[in-house]
Amino acid sequence: MENRKSFYITTPIYYPSDNLHIGHAYTTVAADCMARFKRMQGYDVFYLTGTDEHGQKIERAAREKGMEPIEYIDRIVANIKKLWHTLLISNTDFIRTTEPRQKEVVQKIFNRVYEQGDIVLSEYEGWYCSPCETFFTERQLAEGKCPDCGRDVEMLKEASYFFKMSKYAPRLLEHIENNPEFIQPESRRNEVVNFIKSGLDDLCVSRTTFQWGIPVPFNQSHVVYVWFDALINYLTGVGYLQDDELFAKYWPADVHLMAKDIIRFHAIIWPIMLMALDLPLPKKVMAHGWIMLEGGKMSKSKGNVIDPGILVEKYGVDAIRYYLIKELSFGQDGIYSEEILVSRINSDLANDLGNLISRTVAMIIRYFQGSIPAAGTSTDLDLQLKEAAQLAFREATERLEKLDFSNYLHATSRLVSRANKYIDETAPWQLAKDPSQTERLATVMYNLMETIRIVLILTAPAMPTLMARANQQLGLWEDCTKVTWNDAGIWGVTSSGAQVSRGEALFPRVDIKTLEEGPAGAPVSGETNSAEDAPTNEKTIEPEYITIEDFARLDLRVAEVIACEKMKKADKLLILTLRVGEEERTVVSGIAQHYTPEEMVGKKVVLLANLKPTKLRGVMSHGMILAASDDKYVDVLTVTKDIASGERVK
Ligand code: MSP
Repeated sequence: MENRKSFYITTPIYYPSDNLHIGHAYTTVAADCMARFKRMQGYDVFYLTGTDEHGQKIERAAREKGMEPIEYIDRIVANIKKLWHTLLISNTDFIRTTEPRQKEVVQKIFNRVYEQGDIVLSEYEGWYCSPCETFFTERQLAEGKCPDCGRDVEMLKEASYFFKMSKYAPRLLEHIENNPEFIQPESRRNEVVNFIKSGLDDLCVSRTTFQWGIPVPFNQSHVVYVWFDALINYLTGVGYLQDDELFAKYWPADVHLMAKDIIRFHAIIWPIMLMALDLPLPKKVMAHGWIMLEGGKMSKSKGNVIDPGILVEKYGVDAIRYYLIKELSFGQDGIYSEEILVSRINSDLANDLGNLISRTVAMIIRYFQGSIPAAGTSTDLDLQLKEAAQLAFREATERLEKLDFSNYLHATSRLVSRANKYIDETAPWQLAKDPSQTERLATVMYNLMETIRIVLILTAPAMPTLMARANQQLGLWEDCTKVTWNDAGIWGVTSSGAQVSRGEALFPRVDIKTLEEGPAGAPVSGETNSAEDAPTNEKTIEPEYITIEDFARLDLRVAEVIACEKMKKADKLLILTLRVGEEERTVVSGIAQHYTPEEMVGKKVVLLANLKPTKLRGVMSHGMILAASDDKYVDVLTVTKDIASGERVK
């Protein structure tokens, strides 16, 4: 049956060291938008995502929780899959690097590249921190000490396998030069080219300092370097060495999508691995920017990550996906804030798109008893609207082909605005007063329905539930799943006589006050936000309640005191070293008159982890530990059961 053109798109496989945040959701939603677009164009799409489960960090995170690595990551992977389900991600497969299929392919590839002489055994020399079990280069050291724990490091040599990347550098440069579309955007391509030109070192592709990885097939004391393992997922996912038919259908990948942090792995190491395997290179490696917060990058240790699952619960999946896809300009960073999110929902979706549909439905009900009328003769205004629709189709298509997600939705927004302007220009309420204008009124209604139909098709890859939800009111399609992308390129296919009916608001307005005052719970619909519902002006004395969302802003964690000393020349202060999950932190606490350092070591305390760091007597304090106190006592709150450090207190 299959002669359709194929399209293979991937996201990075994410580290399951912790739950994912809105940044990871961005890549996955953007790739999903592309996958849906291509499916609507009739392509046979393979969309792969998954998790990168090996390596020392994951092993350590698990051990700190007293768990086996696989037991630890199984839980997080289940959450990740749930999140993708919530965001309506339509991935074809989900690959985990701990699966047997990955082990088999990685080992076969390692063997082959070794046998052909591109992987060789040599010696790795570097600064080693034995408590952290990590090698560092001279440059990575912090004043000659371990950049992670600050302890002394020693120069160590170990036998390692090296991948001879430099051999392939000229071929890679030539490929990049001859294929300007290969690395996108251009700024990243230039970065990569400069990096290659500055000279490529051979890559150390094995480790002996930990076990959590795929063993080197012919030397079991080494495990394969986690990136060498991870990149191969893109081959395993489509059946390399396991399902020749599947592989032939989808390889080479059309797009590897990711953020700029990992472009070099994908645009240098990965193509060279493929060259060593004699496989065609992916057609495009595209790096988008980062979603940042006003205070900088989102990070788990700062405790400022945004959970996309909660946002979907609050605002709905279509709105969150729309916001994400529109927010990051091509290749640029963007700032996330809930205020911007809400204003996008209110302006683009509730005011512009939602109103266009509800006004049109209301007018067809009022003027034509709900039956879509046939169009009569067209005027210039009608032709302008039609042209705007055709332009939106062309622009949306071109922008999506280029993975310029934001401008794709700007193109659809422009069409929605044009249609709203068309309503003002044609003033149907005036036409309705004049019986001689019935045909004109019918034409205006028909053109609005046609524009709405096109907008719904064009926005479907971004907002997967909108078309079907709107169709309950519009009755445009018998089966929304059969609608194709190219249906949006033609004008005049809506049949007259179909019935529209009034329905729920497609995008309820969010009351901005819910953000300022909390609870930032359910969206507030325009209809209920009437003057009658406003609180009365009576003065009542109420306690100042906070909401559960306010409380949730406090990142309280179990922390284990692993070292403690008195602050010199300060009789009230202790300097505590805390272990919080994978991380170590210094916290200064004013409890020295109540606790000796020895009494504190070993205690599991409660840490306010996202308190702004501050300097106390020259020492940076990263958080605050909690204690109960009165005039007489200070009692540090401790956790008495065997709960691992890093766990949340709530
Ligand atoms: N496991 C590697 C990837 C291996 S792929 C063969 C890895 N994992 S990761 O969990 O750190 O994910 C990094 C990717 O997550 C980024 O490249 C990007 O796709 C996404 N993002 C993580 N944080 C992000 C933002 N704040 N903003 C945008 N994208 C972000 O690297």
